[in-house]
Amino acid sequence: MESDRNQDYEQFKERFFRLTGINLSLYKEEQMKRRLNSFRARKQFPDLVALADGMEQSGELLDQVLSRMTINVTEFFRNASRWQILEDKIKGIAARKENLTVWSAACSTGEEPYSLSMLIGKYFSGNHYRIVATDIDREVLRQAEAGIYQQQAVSGFSAEEQQQFFTIKGPFYRIRPELKRSVRFLRHDLLRDPAPGRFDVIVCRNVLIYFTEEGKSLIYQKFGHALNQGGILFVGSTEQIFRPDIFGLASAESFFYRKQDKKQSE
Ligand SMILES: C[S@@+](CC[C@H](N)C(=O)[O-])C[C@H]1O[C@@H](n2cnc3c(N)ncnc32)[C@H](O)[C@@H]1O
Repeated sequence: MESDRNQDYEQFKERFFRLTGINLSLYKEEQMKRRLNSFRARKQFPDLVALADGMEQSGELLDQVLSRMTINVTEFFRNASRWQILEDKIKGIAARKENLTVWSAACSTGEEPYSLSMLIGKYFSGNHYRIVATDIDREVLRQAEAGIYQQQAVSGFSAEEQQQFFTIKGPFYRIRPELKRSVRFLRHDLLRDPAPGRFDVIVCRNVLIYFTEEGKSLIYQKFGHALNQGGILFVGSTEQIFRPDIFGLASAESFFYRKQDKKQSE
């Protein structure tokens, strides 16, 4: 029975890869199986192979599976105290650099890159910083690009900040164009695609937890290469890197890593 279930998942992974290019082997298996199986049961497919058959016939079902396997929960300035530390680091960079490049990796519906734009805008003028925001899920990217949020999403801001950062129309809060202008959204698979440039800051939070150790290593390596010397990597609250030195990084504070000078890391 157990081996049938494993075979079922193995076959699903292969067919999913052929359809989407997404390699589920690099996602934690138990977590992914649980999520897929609850979706499968709700849709009344007898097993994952039957679900794969269904996905091959229906793009709509495939999109639903994709949404199910990616958890999109996010918020503006998620874990606010850590963003204060980030602000200090941005201030430090602003004292020595004129331009700033930032990657918000796995940005979900946009709250993270727009938070970055709100914060960085205090220290860099709009044409001196650029944020590349990426995610694997096209649907969340569509929402992120629209940049329109509801009251609940902006409830952490004071009334004054709401006015400063959003154009408010009825129940909708639209990100102001001057904050949006510096943010570019791209579809990107962290496990498969090359880094979309070189950066002074990479923010990648609350996604690394889904990957196997092998998957995480692939991504850290990518980040290590994509960071400029002295650049900062900011990760989520449960996502410390066990051996940052392997990736040319050094711990700079809890949940922050700094790209080491080549000489230092030798
Ligand atoms: C929980 S959200 C995190 C959003 C934001 N970074 C935060 O901390 O609030 C996780 C995001 O990771 C994305 N994701 C999952 N697998 C991915 C992959 N292989 N490459 C890029 N993004 C991925 C999901 O689509 C989802 O939007």
